[in-house]
Amino acid sequence: MSKLTILEYPDPRLRTVAKPVTRFDAQLQTLIDDMAETMYAARGIGLAATQVDQHLRLLVLDVSESRDALQVFINPELLDRSGTLQQEEGCLSVPEIYAEVKRAETVTVRAQDASGEHLEQQLDGLAAICLQHEMDHLQGRLFVDYLSPIKRDMLKKKLARQRRQPAESVSA
Ligand code: NI
Repeated sequence: MSKLTILEYPDPRLRTVAKPVTRFDAQLQTLIDDMAETMYAARGIGLAATQVDQHLRLLVLDVSESRDALQVFINPELLDRSGTLQQEEGCLSVPEIYAEVKRAETVTVRAQDASGEHLEQQLDGLAAICLQHEMDHLQGRLFVDYLSPIKRDMLKKKLARQRRQPAESVSA
């Protein structure tokens, strides 16, 4: 396994729309393993392939306290969403910036696993937020896009100033 480089905002490659995964082979498994290692090393709770400059519809999550419950979603599609939740989010591609974003509280997702098997799962709370955040990455969208231009500009300046300070909250 190897740790991958995480692209950082405002890198234009983060705006790439990911393509569906069509080959469920050893190369895909290596990418999944590397993404998991990269996410754990960065102490994130989620990572989308877009963030490591691999433009495939693939994301990994682990919202467990014990950091041993990796979930892999390939070609994810939301079948249903309900409720609203507004919580502070962070992102490994936007270090040191946290902002409240409104998301669905519960989502039903259909996706494939590493072997191409279809799965359907209902997620809520933090897992649901994280999934929606990562699925946004696959569309080239970042959580800061939900903020007003003024707030986004302030955050950009803060980002430039604080780039070197260590993260304390969870990021995805
Ligand atoms: Ni993110």
